[in-house]
Amino acid sequence: MNTNSKSGPDKNGFPHYMLKEIYEQPEAVRETIEACVNSAGHIALPGSGISDAEVKKLRKIDIAASGTSRHAGLAGEFMIERMTAIPVEVDFASQYCYRDPIVEPHELAVFISQSGTTVDTVAALHVARKKGAKTLAICNVADTPLTRDADAMLLTYAGIETSIAATKSFTTQLTALFLLAAHISRVRGSSNAAVDAALRKARRLPDEIESVLKQDQQCLALARIFAQYESFLFLGRDIDYPIALEGALKLKEVSYIHAEGYPTGEMKHGPSAMIDESLPLVVLATRDRSDPASRLRYEKTISTIREIGERGTPVLAVISEGDTVTPKATPHVIEVPDVPVLLQPILEVVPLQLFAYHVAVLKGRDVDQPRHLSKSVVVE
Ligand code: F6R
Repeated sequence: MNTNSKSGPDKNGFPHYMLKEIYEQPEAVRETIEACVNSAGHIALPGSGISDAEVKKLRKIDIAASGTSRHAGLAGEFMIERMTAIPVEVDFASQYCYRDPIVEPHELAVFISQSGTTVDTVAALHVARKKGAKTLAICNVADTPLTRDADAMLLTYAGIETSIAATKSFTTQLTALFLLAAHISRVRGSSNAAVDAALRKARRLPDEIESVLKQDQQCLALARIFAQYESFLFLGRDIDYPIALEGALKLKEVSYIHAEGYPTGEMKHGPSAMIDESLPLVVLATRDRSDPASRLRYEKTISTIREIGERGTPVLAVISEGDTVTPKATPHVIEVPDVPVLLQPILEVVPLQLFAYHVAVLKGRDVDQPRHLSKSVVVE
């Protein structure tokens, strides 16, 4: 069954909903933060039916979702584990609901969905409930099969998303997961100076996204250079790996170009064999200067870019503002503001969304209604 909406709200002067929705991200992220954090920095998750006593007892968190929403969950895994030290497992909703998952006492099962109607995600929620997990729906629509059947709900404030390709729902999901992690960490007393600083910086995210959007013309210029290729590899380390997956998914679905997301450190375990001048790489090469582990990952990534560049492979790199090293290794770069590592995904994905959009337009694709896809997969 296809639930595509052929018409939607006004495009507000934009040629496509996808582009309009990419540009709505600063406001969507701002609203999602304002719904959960007051001016004193206190986090309250409205609609969350999980008591502080339950949060304190949590031993494990499972996340299940589909497509882009699962990619948000994969980034959320890094946020939650780093901020709370609670182990997190992420699965495809379509796998979770058939694999007879092990649900332990004091486990929270989180289901992420823009629509709240994805059949596999709703089925996964039912499985978790039946097995006794406390369930939380992170959803962009308040009254849905997913939110109705969950014990608790955390809303994202992306507004109506009409384009089939998810954009603003993704960045608001990442924001909600970051706030959830910060909330759990404060309730459990595991919050530290780095978490508090990241939370303060989160309030600046809408402005930072605005500054990334100003590079739209640079993304278009890069799309013109790269649109001719038939296959792409997207690479990212650590929390950037889910963004590599998401960048590849965006390109696939709107331009129909083959693209794969891979962890940068896995290249030598197979994919390197494919590398030549016909297979461009999109590499997430940002770094958080204040975080030694992030700086180390960045240095390793630069070595990969140099090594691959020597084989004549075109490399497009997403880098942090002020990075003067990566542009010496590849001329094709897009800068994003320097933010704490756990917030990086929210900025890094924006140029990848713009890149996918422009490639699709250049290829004459039906950007808002890609073939064979529907906005919500409501039957298997
Ligand atoms: C990709 C995309 C899909 C959805 C997936 C889950 O751009 O839109 O991959 O993310 O179908 O949909 P929701 O989030 O509504 O459960």
